[in-house]
Amino acid sequence: MRTPLIAGNWKMNKTHFEAIKLIQQLGYELAEHDFGKVEVAVCPPFTSMRTAQTLIEDDRLSFALGAQNMHYEKDGAFTGEVSAEMLKALRVRYVILGHSERREVFGESDEDVNRKVRVAFGNELTPIMCCGETDSEKESGETAIKVERQVREGLKSVTPDQARSIVIAYEPIWAIGTGKTATPDDAQSTIGHIRSVLGTLFDGDVASSIRILYGGSVKSGNAGQILAQTDVDGALVGGASLDAGEFAAIVKAIK
Ligand code: 13P
Repeated sequence: MRTPLIAGNWKMNKTHFEAIKLIQQLGYELAEHDFGKVEVAVCPPFTSMRTAQTLIEDDRLSFALGAQNMHYEKDGAFTGEVSAEMLKALRVRYVILGHSERREVFGESDEDVNRKVRVAFGNELTPIMCCGETDSEKESGETAIKVERQVREGLKSVTPDQARSIVIAYEPIWAIGTGKTATPDDAQSTIGHIRSVLGTLFDGDVASSIRILYGGSVKSGNAGQILAQTDVDGALVGGASLDAGEFAAIVKAIK
């Protein structure tokens, strides 16, 4: 039984003042929500992580805290980077790894993503590992090959026990921030393919316990249909996670 997860990736948005407001509004919107049925995570920028952590703990909110990235080295001369140990100390549960914006804008390779995934597990963090194809890869029918490669490379040397808890996010790059979404059928088909790849990497039992999210222009208006697909276990939400009412409506769209 996979508990669905709705995770808000705030990207580079919100000061820590604004983060306080958004988390409080979200707490209000989801006051009656059953977090055992649908898990909710917020992934603010690093400058708001401490604020978010204290707010969530002090107000006994049930949101999980997630980070948007981390470095794979333990410590040292890596100006501008944040380590897994630092996140762990903040009681961060999730860390988004290999988001297409990290891959495309900051040049992260599958190998970097794999190193980060392994280090995250070593620090009791749960990776939300992203994969997805570009517009031209989609047009040339390479979606399955691309996501398969990213999943296989990203999970190298990951043990079956670790794999059980990982979260994978399928985010077609052409759907991110564009208002275009994969059709529910396409999302199901690619996510189903990812699950079958996981079955060959590990086994059917492990594959069926891994949560796979869809991401890319998820809004309250389209969430219900996408989230109703058999293999879609939730959503990684960008723009719509910046509005408490909209994000809460996506959480409530899971039946
Ligand atoms: P949007 O929901 O803004 O399309 O972003 C999706 C995303 O990249 C989440 O990680």
